[in-house]
Amino acid sequence: MKIAFFVIVIAVVSSAGAASKVTYDVTSFGAKGDGYTDSTKAFLSAWSYACNSTKSAVINVPSGTYLLATAITFAGERCKSSSIMMRIYGTLVAPSNYNAIATSGDWIRFHRVSHVTISGGTLDGQGASLWSCKTSGKSCPSGATTLGIYNSNNIVISGLKLVNSQMFHILIDACANVKLQGVTISASGVSPNTDGIHLISSTDVTIVSTKIATGDDCISIGPGNTNLWIEKVACGPGHGISIGSLGWQLEEPGVQNITVTTVTFRGTQNGVRIKTWARASHGFVTGVSFQHVTMINVKNPIIIDQRYCPDNNNCPNQAAGVKIKNVLYEDIHGTSDTQVAVKLDCSQGNPCAGIRLQDVNLNYTSVDKPALSSCAYAAGSASGILRPTSCL
Ligand SMILES: *[C@@H]1O[C@H](CO)[C@@H](O)[C@H](O)[C@H]1NC(C)=O
Ligand SMILES: *[C@@H]1O[C@H](CO)[C@@H](O)[C@H](O)[C@H]1NC(C)=O
Ligand SMILES: *[C@@H]1O[C@H](CO)[C@@H](O)[C@H](O)[C@H]1NC(C)=O
Repeated sequence: MKIAFFVIVIAVVSSAGAASKVTYDVTSFGAKGDGYTDSTKAFLSAWSYACNSTKSAVINVPSGTYLLATAITFAGERCKSSSIMMRIYGTLVAPSNYNAIATSGDWIRFHRVSHVTISGGTLDGQGASLWSCKTSGKSCPSGATTLGIYNSNNIVISGLKLVNSQMFHILIDACANVKLQGVTISASGVSPNTDGIHLISSTDVTIVSTKIATGDDCISIGPGNTNLWIEKVACGPGHGISIGSLGWQLEEPGVQNITVTTVTFRGTQNGVRIKTWARASHGFVTGVSFQHVTMINVKNPIIIDQRYCPDNNNCPNQAAGVKIKNVLYEDIHGTSDTQVAVKLDCSQGNPCAGIRLQDVNLNYTSVDKPALSSCAYAAGSASGILRPTSCL
């Protein structure tokens, strides 16, 4: 009796171990890594099985190139699985005719998922033909974000490579607890609107060990983001890391507790930027640290721009409503491609407060001319090495 009971217990434990994970391979649902067979339906079937599984599920994508010819949504609201890992060894490629996805918002969308990991692989947005349409001045669709994640939590994106998105490469919207690590993003330095990672209304997002080269912001931080951690990011070419644009809406959630540390900008239009519309808004920015930043030939290494009003349109009173408070710039060093290396251009109606400059060491690339700083409606303190001299 005793021995039999013991054996049964062992059997249950080991089968529970083996059965705690179930793997679905997209090729067994008809996906083909041949580069031209549309695998959208196969991916959706694999997702449906993974989502319905009562166990942890793995969706395996072997090496090969899989065409996803239309926009695809992985919806999670009815999932039973405790977690889903999409393990990609191959490349997912968008259709070469941009019209097939360009008005869909996103090419690959995750909606209301939780405990989802996307690991490895490449997402190729094939955006070049849409970029040429846009730069030719013709009227063109706005384009699709390559990977959009909405209303989701406990997400990990690891070792993923994104290339040539039509528009944003990654969008994180209304999510909590998201970790991006070892992600690589690349698109031409002159491709329009190809932001690397755009964040809206999300909390506890971490971006580490990531390399971004695009034609727009490497990372853009929209309204409503809190507890964001950005570390070990290499940016360039591109427009830098930007908080904003903020303050388009009158009622707009604020941006709070943002850390950007150990980041390098190479040949970018901006380094660390905060940008708000010059219009009325109850939005705010508070508790931001930019630390240990290397600037290499950056046009505007440190910039707050509260006068954003393209074509002088839609900014009736020109004083930005967004209040910027408690921003630290610490150990920011390297070279500026313009003479004004530090520009703090705040709102006349809502001056910046609590700006701290500590050990800022920036030289103008043009020999024999000193770097300068320029302040408007900015208050705070400065300490340590201050090159250019502080204007606070
Ligand atoms: C998953 O469950 C839903 C109902 O909850 C059902 O409509 C769908 O067919 C199921 N998919 C699979 C692959 O079993
Ligand atoms: C600020 O955000 C970090 C994560 O980026 C978090 O660890 C920390 O607890 C947050 N601080 C507050 C006061 O919420
Ligand atoms: C800027 O130039 C000064 C004077 O040549 C030099 O001492 C300093 O180290 C330079 N700063 C950086 C970040 O290279």
